[in-house]
Amino acid sequence: MKIFIEKNYELLSSKAVLRFKKILESKKVKNIAFPTGNTPKLFYRKLVELYKKGKIDFSKISGFLIDEYYPMKKDSKDSFNYYISNNFFALVNLKEKYSLNGSNLDFISECRSYKELIEKKGGLDMAILGIGENGHIGFNEPGSELNSRVRLVELKNTTLDLNRAKYEAGPIPRYALTMGIYEIFRAKRIMLLASGKSKSERVWDFLNGPISRDLPVSVLRLHPDIEVIIDKEAAVLIEDKIMNLIN
Ligand code: PGA
Repeated sequence: MKIFIEKNYELLSSKAVLRFKKILESKKVKNIAFPTGNTPKLFYRKLVELYKKGKIDFSKISGFLIDEYYPMKKDSKDSFNYYISNNFFALVNLKEKYSLNGSNLDFISECRSYKELIEKKGGLDMAILGIGENGHIGFNEPGSELNSRVRLVELKNTTLDLNRAKYEAGPIPRYALTMGIYEIFRAKRIMLLASGKSKSERVWDFLNGPISRDLPVSVLRLHPDIEVIIDKEAAVLIEDKIMNLIN
């Protein structure tokens, strides 16, 4: 595991871009899972800026959105499809863009198709992830099976309360479609991002706590190729210990 602690959110985002660009240039990645949320917003903005300057090329990359509310219209401003399209997918030259469709009434076949698509494409080469304040990854909430696949999940109240603030229309959906922990863990590389004090306990637990389905992110500690990029606020509980981990 590589851990980078950056001074603030701005530098965390720049570091993530730098690392990501290097990985892209290695030409070893094709299929990449992308997250939504506040954490990657500046990362996406910086990627788009680089792209506009002709300094990064996504033409060999297939982007896979990790999750989506259910039910949810694709073009609703609250949908993750809308977020990823407007922050990233539609602004760069990705070869292919895939996402879960929260308006497909047949959610079982929607999940099966996404699972099969990922398999048909040869699996994920990389997953970029944030950490939920309750330790979720994608919408794999605490209690998720570690071998869970693409599926419909019921969101925890902790997640609903946090996400309600970002939600514009009507009541927030209680359900979501998400890649499973299995699809995420099978990605050849993981880049995990966390910013701010509100994530510091989960970052601490991720590095030090038991590996358990109560904290889905904890399983990533077993991943053979994971880099963690966090800012000082998110690292506040681990700064002292991190040197021990690295040395
Ligand atoms: P955030 O969400 O980036 O908005 O904190 C992360 C997550 O819930 O996975």
